[in-house]
Amino acid sequence: MERAVVQITLFGLLLCLVTTLPNKDDWNIYSFHINSTVSSRYATTVITSRVANRMNESKEIEFQVRIPKNAFISKFTMFIDGQVYDGVVKAKEEAQQQYTKAVSRGQSAGLVSSVGRTLEEFKTSVTVAAHKKVTFELTYEELLKRRLGKYELQIHARPMQPVKDFKVDVYIHEEAGINFIEIKGGLSTKSLANAITKTQTETQAWVYFYPTEAQQRTCDSCGEKGMNGDLVIVYDVNRDLAFGDIKTSYGYFVHHFAPSSLQRIPKNVVFVIDQSGSMHGRKITQTRIALIHILKDLAEDDYFGLITFDGDIFHWKRELVQASKTNVNSAKEFARGIRDRGATDINKAVLEGARMLNAHPRDGSASILILLTDGDPTTGETNLETIHSNVRRAIADKFSLYCLGFGFDVNFEFLEKMSLQNNGVARRIYEDSDADLQLKGFYEEVATPLLTNVTMMYTGGTNLTQTHFSQYYNGSEIVVAGQITDNDIETFTPEVVAVSSTGTVTDRRIQRVWAYLTVKQLLEKELQLSGPEKAKMKKEALELSLKYSFVTPLTSMVVTKPPGENTDVLHKPKEGETNHFKQTLLFCLFVLETIYCSFLLIIIALYHVYLFPSFKCGVEVHLFSFVLELSVNGLLDSVGNRGFKIIGIHFKNNQYIEIDTNVKQKMKTRCIFLSSITVLGRDKEFDVAVGDTRMVILVHEKDGNKFLWPILRQRPSDNRGDGILGGSSAVDFSISISPTLDCWFMSAESALQRSLDDFTVAQL
Ligand SMILES: *[C@@H]1O[C@H](CO)[C@@H](O)[C@H](O)[C@H]1NC(C)=O
Ligand SMILES: *[C@@H]1O[C@H](CO)[C@@H](O)[C@H](O)[C@H]1NC(C)=O
Ligand SMILES: *[C@@H]1O[C@H](CO)[C@@H](O)[C@H](O)[C@H]1NC(C)=O
Ligand SMILES: *[C@@H]1O[C@H](CO)[C@@H](O)[C@H](O)[C@H]1NC(C)=O
Ligand SMILES: *[C@@H]1O[C@H](CO)[C@@H](O)[C@H](O)[C@H]1NC(C)=O
Repeated sequence: MERAVVQITLFGLLLCLVTTLPNKDDWNIYSFHINSTVSSRYATTVITSRVANRMNESKEIEFQVRIPKNAFISKFTMFIDGQVYDGVVKAKEEAQQQYTKAVSRGQSAGLVSSVGRTLEEFKTSVTVAAHKKVTFELTYEELLKRRLGKYELQIHARPMQPVKDFKVDVYIHEEAGINFIEIKGGLSTKSLANAITKTQTETQAWVYFYPTEAQQRTCDSCGEKGMNGDLVIVYDVNRDLAFGDIKTSYGYFVHHFAPSSLQRIPKNVVFVIDQSGSMHGRKITQTRIALIHILKDLAEDDYFGLITFDGDIFHWKRELVQASKTNVNSAKEFARGIRDRGATDINKAVLEGARMLNAHPRDGSASILILLTDGDPTTGETNLETIHSNVRRAIADKFSLYCLGFGFDVNFEFLEKMSLQNNGVARRIYEDSDADLQLKGFYEEVATPLLTNVTMMYTGGTNLTQTHFSQYYNGSEIVVAGQITDNDIETFTPEVVAVSSTGTVTDRRIQRVWAYLTVKQLLEKELQLSGPEKAKMKKEALELSLKYSFVTPLTSMVVTKPPGENTDVLHKPKEGETNHFKQTLLFCLFVLETIYCSFLLIIIALYHVYLFPSFKCGVEVHLFSFVLELSVNGLLDSVGNRGFKIIGIHFKNNQYIEIDTNVKQKMKTRCIFLSSITVLGRDKEFDVAVGDTRMVILVHEKDGNKFLWPILRQRPSDNRGDGILGGSSAVDFSISISPTLDCWFMSAESALQRSLDDFTVAQL
């Protein structure tokens, strides 16, 4: 684990850039194909990468691709020198044992981690003998979900090198007929336009994307490492039949039901908006902007309510009122005045929202409760189970609760469970410049109810996926799949019962659609239940995942490799938790790319000697923490690039301290003494001392947002340091005048002399 300490000065770092640029010339991706086949909205995508080791000696060759979060990986194969190595899907625990064994032998393990909002990264490597070739083949499957009247197939193209034989082939077959098809995404630009061809018949479409090597270097977001971007195929199908579209095959059926010629149902909607202290800054501003837009779009026959909450509740009006011009204007005025303050009493706020909706029953309308929060309940009722049961009792299946979790300080599972228990869904709003658009976009999805109390019935069908849906919104779609009893199509009769504004859905894929939907829905149910029921759902979901070899949250794939190589295990990351990786990672990049920018100099100039501690954003954190006196991990401030929200410090003796920007509460613990560790909280800094090592965590504030910045004041006497900037030193700008320098950019890998991913941690 030990590596030589690199003593780097400002000048030295610059030099090291030049000398350690990664050399991937030793292996050559001579062919990279992505083949996606979509039939009845079920997409099966195969990525095939062929790589040659051009060196005289054996080399470790990497395969690294990004796939949509919503997809399940179902197959991974490597072909090396006439041998086939097929990945095996196993129950997670079983795969974990294999992983642990591999780690204890000092071998690394493969990972799937999430990247951004929509993608997950799959990564593995294998050693290939001199002048030999390897073919990697990854298959993943996904049921495209209809949103705002369209399906989107996202294909991420990032082969890591310009590739001579690069191809993306998409084939879409929709019996109902393709209404329109468009190509979007970062790769669909003018400079690549001639690389894209699209042909279409009534029921089929083909999209080919064949950029030349030169185009792969020169297009937007492309460079010496080739392409890095998305191709998004957007389409919708014809919906002439009010009843939808049913396909059957080999004893299975799938019913797509998405009528659009119905009239809208007036709605009653109550917005419950968190205005607690943590919403401070951009979050509250964006919420205000989004809310004002949303209010403006209410229809005149809608009724609405608006409450904000912290530890208390603030009504715009106590009861629901009609969305008349005057009322909407007054509510907009109220929204403009929302200010952040105080704690978070989610229980009281949601119950009050439910009370308002319950007090306003209206025949022929659809009721919706929308909660927006960015944190966990901190005051009033804070027991999560109790809140769940209170809310459930108050709503009693009469309307839907949608929870929007703003940022990464929320317990998303808590919100998700609460929504699912109340016929709704939870959505994460990513803290970013477009958060207001995300909020508005979500609202638009539920803005136009067309049906309520939808029950899908199938005489002669069994093992059905979810059949009851409390509301159906314009632009969305209801999908039910199941088995046809005894494969008897004659007696199979589907029927839909629902309330509308005027009174009272070829191959073996359908089976996979059924399995895909069943697994997703069992996992949702599992989240809501506890005890033996939970175990039962989990067991069923696990059995199906194994049977159809889907890599789901309950299973993992053990990558099979030639004997003697590292064992790689891939797990499906959980929403949210793995984004911590990415945030940490981004920060590392930032530090490396812009450390000598004047912005940082201002911060740095205030202090004495700036040695960065063992900053690891690394998977190997557990191993490291045994070796080092202390190791430090940080969770990036998700607004980005200013510092950390939370800093976790691991000490040699397995003790752990976490410091977060929510210092209001944490600061109360001004002084923590653990055995031989001293933590002192001062006004704008925390002082952590262990043995002869001293570290200071500065609390900075910018635009009203607090963030943390760790500094190693006193190096351990044995002078060991590892990680992102461990062991490097910087200039003491408190003595000299801080110079203004331009940023220079370099790849993180070249400065680290290792893959950046080696520095990502799963947990703080
Ligand atoms: C893509 O995959 C489909 C289904 O496996 C196959 O029929 C087709 O030939 C493939 N297309 C290409 C260009 O490889
Ligand atoms: C291949 O190996 C031989 C001897 O091991 C060496 O002399 C030669 O330079 C190497 N060639 C390349 C291209 O690395
Ligand atoms: C539903 O969406 C379709 C397509 O966007 C639109 O043409 C139609 O008017 C919408 N229906 C209602 C009731 O808003
Ligand atoms: C929904 O429909 C079912 C039967 O289709 C009926 O029993 C139930 O009362 C309805 N619920 C509501 C809230 O209308
Ligand atoms: C499907 O349903 C039948 C009975 O209706 C049951 O015997 C069978 O086990 C079910 N299959 C699955 C995969 O759940």
